[in-house]
Amino acid sequence: MSNISIFKNENLKKEFTDGFCTVRILEETCPEVSIELCTLKAGAAKDFETYSFEDRMQIFTFTSGNGMIKAGKKIFVIDEQSVFIPDFDRDRLKITAGDEDMEFIHITGPMNDTDRRQMDHCQYVLPRFVKFSEAIQYTERFTQESGAKVKQHSVIAGRHLGRYTMGWVIGKGPDFVGQHTHPSLEQWYFMLGGADFTYDAGDKSMAVKEGDVSFTPHGTSHGSTCKEDGFINYVWFELNRAWDEV
Ligand SMILES: [Fe+2]
Repeated sequence: MSNISIFKNENLKKEFTDGFCTVRILEETCPEVSIELCTLKAGAAKDFETYSFEDRMQIFTFTSGNGMIKAGKKIFVIDEQSVFIPDFDRDRLKITAGDEDMEFIHITGPMNDTDRRQMDHCQYVLPRFVKFSEAIQYTERFTQESGAKVKQHSVIAGRHLGRYTMGWVIGKGPDFVGQHTHPSLEQWYFMLGGADFTYDAGDKSMAVKEGDVSFTPHGTSHGSTCKEDGFINYVWFELNRAWDEV
């Protein structure tokens, strides 16, 4: 069995309205979560809908270009890869591209009782803006034991946004992420700049590059390898089903 899905960037059809293009991808994989690939042309601005704490969370992951986010009276400058989590519907939200076209991933997902309880316990203040260069580096045990050199980073830690987490993995070839399985995690990978590696999940082996997106359902063994001239570079986003089963 294999429910692994991949979206190839070469299939991205961009159509702009007022300098903004958004394409929902992999809709069939996990319909409750919306994944959109967005492009905002240099100088263009876009207002975004906001959702209540009862309704949906949203995450903006900026992968290239520059610009700024205005959330209520606060301004966040995007000058490198970074992640923004708005404070639900407490602020009006506007994103403006700078002198380069801006590309970002817009994720929204439902909030349930588990999300609300975990976030209440964490006392996690929003909005939150995290530059990748400031993300906390960590090493998973299977990575250390296998001798892999990839650098793993936590961008959105467990419980801080309920069941939703995000991280970043980077490694120059030759390198690898050993095969492993998460029993309760639905997992998306977003390949970043220069990515050129092989992703093996379930019974599929896929050559992936910048802009490709994969979906791997929970309980599926997966791992990555890159050769001497390859490059592992991706953001992962996960939805933890552990509490759904209780
Ligand atoms: Fe994994």
